[in-house]
Amino acid sequence: TASQEAEKRGWHLYLVGGAVRDLLLAETETGTLMINDIDLVVDGFHKTASVGAGVELAKALQEIYKNARLEIHGAFQTAALLWHKDPELNSLWVDIATSRTEFYPYPAANPEVEASSIRQDLYRRDFTINAMALRLTSPRAGELLDFFGGFLDLQAKQIRILHANSFIEDPTRIYRGVRFAVRFGFEIEKRTEEYIHYAINSGVYDRTSQKNSKTPALQTRLKTELKYILLAPYWQSALKLLDNLGALQCIHPTLKLDSELCRQLNLLERCLGRFDRKQTLSNWQIRLEALIGYLKPEYRAKVAKNLQLADDSIARLKNLSHTQAEIITLLPTFDHPSQTVDLLKKYDLPTLILIALQSSRKIRRKIWQYLTTWANVQPLLTGNDLKELGYKPSPKYKQILDDLLTATLDGLIKDKAEAREFLA
Ligand code: CTP
Repeated sequence: TASQEAEKRGWHLYLVGGAVRDLLLAETETGTLMINDIDLVVDGFHKTASVGAGVELAKALQEIYKNARLEIHGAFQTAALLWHKDPELNSLWVDIATSRTEFYPYPAANPEVEASSIRQDLYRRDFTINAMALRLTSPRAGELLDFFGGFLDLQAKQIRILHANSFIEDPTRIYRGVRFAVRFGFEIEKRTEEYIHYAINSGVYDRTSQKNSKTPALQTRLKTELKYILLAPYWQSALKLLDNLGALQCIHPTLKLDSELCRQLNLLERCLGRFDRKQTLSNWQIRLEALIGYLKPEYRAKVAKNLQLADDSIARLKNLSHTQAEIITLLPTFDHPSQTVDLLKKYDLPTLILIALQSSRKIRRKIWQYLTTWANVQPLLTGNDLKELGYKPSPKYKQILDDLLTATLDGLIKDKAEAREFLA
């Protein structure tokens, strides 16, 4: 339908980016293909020049598919159609961009102009395997436009950049390259790797951490890329590759995946398995906080802010060293579990996990014991039991229940009968 609508208007329409790559990969490899993110580029002169051809096409499609939601981004450049955002349902996201040359009038039938326009659009992209287009409009619908050798790179299983400045312009492409390499089992091509080193050595952190009008977008993209990587089953291999390339420097120049950080991350995985259902943060977020928490205390809050983490994450990382100092000093002096509970209940689960990762085995065991057992202990009697025992409802109930809890935690009472005796 999209191509018919484009053809009606005398425009060209292309499928571009990841969907073309995944289609070709599915042809060369076995496996199921799940595409729920489609990028289209429309190339056509629009008579009013106040609306992008992409936007007009998206509007026309929404008239036909009324259950799709239409979003328009930027002044008049891109539009998106969205079917079902509910994560439980299969969703489909179709981005429709307008090729750059749309405002220069040219006869749509002129193949030379057409080729240079889509070529320019593809040349702005990151890797050859992501810079192919499939023409959807006639004539020659179904033709693959591959100006930069993307298909050969797919077959050779390599990630190759399009131009030397690409990583300098957008250092988050280093993370994308690593993500694709690990995800598909590809190699990063040698020259591309040299460009990565060049971009990193030219002061990549300065760009990802500076405050200017361009960096918020860059920082958001870095966070998004980190999210994709830390969400994926292959996240540990991806981190290793990022570290080998020196690319963890985009997060902070001192961040290294050394054996201690690996140990902490492995511990974290074991612990995420244990506390899965209680998680307040998703796994990728706590993995990211563990990376930031591994930095020296004075860098943590700044890096968390750079990456635009949520306020509670920033506060957690900012307070981590104080909290840890308090816990390390006090925990070993406690003789009773109730003292541990009184101290640790002040902190949220991610804080305790982050501290456990960085603490001695003895402290860690106490934290685990608190999280797995003591934090779940309830007073043996309820408010109703107290009423039955003849206590008049009053604010004192809380104190009585707290005392009962302390006695339970410290092993002084084991059941309701002992609890009643304790109160008597
Ligand atoms: N792109 C780029 N530089 C970036 C991000 C994206 O050049 N920093 C281009 C690539 O051509 C990419 C397309 O925009 O193919 C779409 O980006 P995105 O949807 O983020 O990635 P996909 O390639 O579709 O990959 P994925 O399967 O991870 O969605």
